Amino acid sequence: MNTPDLLGDIEPMPPLPPAAQERLDRFHRDIQSLAPSLVGYPVSQDYECPELTPFLGFSLNNVGDPFADSFYRENTFAFEREVIEFFQKHLRAPPGETWGYVTGGGTEGNLYGLFLARELFPDGMVYFSEHTHYSAAKVVRVLGARSIMIRGREDGEMDYDDLRETLRLHRDVPPIIFANIGTTMHGAVDDLARIRSILADLAIVRHYIHADAALSGMILPWVAEPQPFGFDAGVDSIAVSGHKFIGSPMPCGVVLARRRHVDRVARSVEYVGCMDTTIAGSRNALTPLVLWSAIQRRGEAGLRRRALRSLALADYAIERFKAAGIAAWRHRNSITVVFPRPGERVIARWQMAPSHNIAHLITMPHVTRATVDAVVAEIAASLSSSAAP
Ligand SMILES: Cc1ncc(COP(=O)(O)O)c(C=O)c1O
Repeated sequence: MNTPDLLGDIEPMPPLPPAAQERLDRFHRDIQSLAPSLVGYPVSQDYECPELTPFLGFSLNNVGDPFADSFYRENTFAFEREVIEFFQKHLRAPPGETWGYVTGGGTEGNLYGLFLARELFPDGMVYFSEHTHYSAAKVVRVLGARSIMIRGREDGEMDYDDLRETLRLHRDVPPIIFANIGTTMHGAVDDLARIRSILADLAIVRHYIHADAALSGMILPWVAEPQPFGFDAGVDSIAVSGHKFIGSPMPCGVVLARRRHVDRVARSVEYVGCMDTTIAGSRNALTPLVLWSAIQRRGEAGLRRRALRSLALADYAIERFKAAGIAAWRHRNSITVVFPRPGERVIARWQMAPSHNIAHLITMPHVTRATVDAVVAEIAASLSSSAAP
């Protein structure tokens, strides 16, 4: 009996069986037909990055700190650093004072921000409004932190009177403020200047502010009169999603934080020969390339044009809603158009995210006027049929 030569040539990857290929083809067709009807979730679908396909054949991995050395050299740290520098500039970070990395998405960025805050103030109390994305409450649970939910206004902004009163009652505990720079449902921006003035009035000097700028973090840098949103508005950390306004075939994000907070958590790890400053160990190395390629292709001018187009399309949608007798509105500098909740069929057809009595349409860069017209017509039909006796 022949013994197999286990040390022979490396066996090449077998081809995909025909049935499996057919299944993928079917899935491809399904996704192609679904994509144009995605108007309710904040993801952009107008990107292309075929230049990155060759990199799918490598075990790229950005384990560790992108600004430090690593034993693992199949990484894209050089590109990641450029992405971070781009975000530092546009999120108004003072030169040299912040650090950041490309995350797996907005949630990881929120976890990172609150992790740093918790390391700074182990007994700190996290405050977030009731309109905050569910990731905040989850992160608070993961960290075992104490938290208080602040009332929200009907338009999605934080109720500042409730914040002031609640902070006043807990003045002995350092506050960790989780501020929304664009809430999920209303696109509302919590007023950082007002939050800071409340802290100053109450003489609370030890505090931490994390900004969740998942979508608006890549819109506000491009508008003429943004609400305060970045490091110049006093935040300690900020999380932005990469697959939202910029767009990416894989979820990703960017988190930036003041370097002095990061230095407190950094640990040197011998196994990978790098500083362990990130939440995940092994990290996606393709997403920094995706973001880098989008920045190279579009440039600042292209990203600005794209944001302004989305804002103009949001206004167009509001006009169309009004013409159909439906009260729709948006916040200043927001592309989230809010309207009364339509019937379930419309919600499913357009992949909408409803909440209580409202739903929204987000005029992301892949959305067209024709799509807006079709959505408004269907919503009008749905609302008038539900209003019929
Ligand atoms: C305001 C806000 N924060 C955080 C997130 C979470 O981001 P991700 O899905 O990238 O984890 C979202 C997602 O929609 C969001 O709207």
